[in-house]
Amino acid sequence: MSYKIVEKEEVATDTFKMVFEAPDIAAAAKAGQFLIVRIDERGERIPLTIADFSSDENTVTTVIQALGKSTKKLTKMNVGGSISDIAGPLGTPADVKQLGTVVLVGGGVGIAPIYPQISAYKNAGNRVVSIIGARNKDLLFWEERVKDASDEYFVATDDGSKGHHGFVTEVLKNILDEEKEKIENKTLENPKIKRVVVIGPPILMKVATQMMNEYPDVEIIVSMNTMMVDGTGMCGGCRLIVDGKVKFSCVDGPEFDGRLVDFNTVMNRLTIYKREEIERAEKYKKECEGGVCSTLD
Ligand code: FES
Repeated sequence: MSYKIVEKEEVATDTFKMVFEAPDIAAAAKAGQFLIVRIDERGERIPLTIADFSSDENTVTTVIQALGKSTKKLTKMNVGGSISDIAGPLGTPADVKQLGTVVLVGGGVGIAPIYPQISAYKNAGNRVVSIIGARNKDLLFWEERVKDASDEYFVATDDGSKGHHGFVTEVLKNILDEEKEKIENKTLENPKIKRVVVIGPPILMKVATQMMNEYPDVEIIVSMNTMMVDGTGMCGGCRLIVDGKVKFSCVDGPEFDGRLVDFNTVMNRLTIYKREEIERAEKYKKECEGGVCSTLD
């Protein structure tokens, strides 16, 4: 079986939207799930969160940041090309239900997986407030898409090149404080914001979760999708501690109650992965310079 690339677009610097023809996966996919992709039989398994899907068009969409050797190789492929394997949809779907107001926060490449959740929460009858952010405006993408799908929409960039000058967590805090103030002033009887969902770099999810201590009545959900390796529950690469128990992001998650996640073990593990990834990317670059990269995995 092979899966055809039907669309490819560089949506932000080194960040590519890639759409694959995959009817079975498109029919079964739900917000919050992920895929494991292999370029060819010898290829590395690449975990990718589902950014969109259409059972009418038989397609599944991912947004890929070309950081490591395999993601660089994948994003060099073009429309009409095929990859050998897509396993999925994997992982537990997001626990989407009618709650009231839900704030969805997507940081960096986390904008992609937050998008299907916006639509899912909206379709479940919620009022959806979206906040997306990146280091600078060139790294932002899907602004119109997110805006159109949301009841309220905010954007933030670390360097102030677009929207709020600062972090998405600051925008989140403003929204939560505004509601808190209305409750205190008695201009609002009952809290409306019931849940915050944050998807992005682990440091963002850690900071957001810590910040949510000030709002104990609001749930905080995080997606530990960046930790996966083989996505099968076998390699142990995505092991994390949740509520004092060992969990695997790929089979027990990727979404967890942020307040129960031990972020320190997560950060330590990711530091090791990052180092290995840089080393492999460097090696791949050297191989390419020598003109042999396409034959190597
Ligand atoms: Fe290997 Fe989860 S990615 S156990």
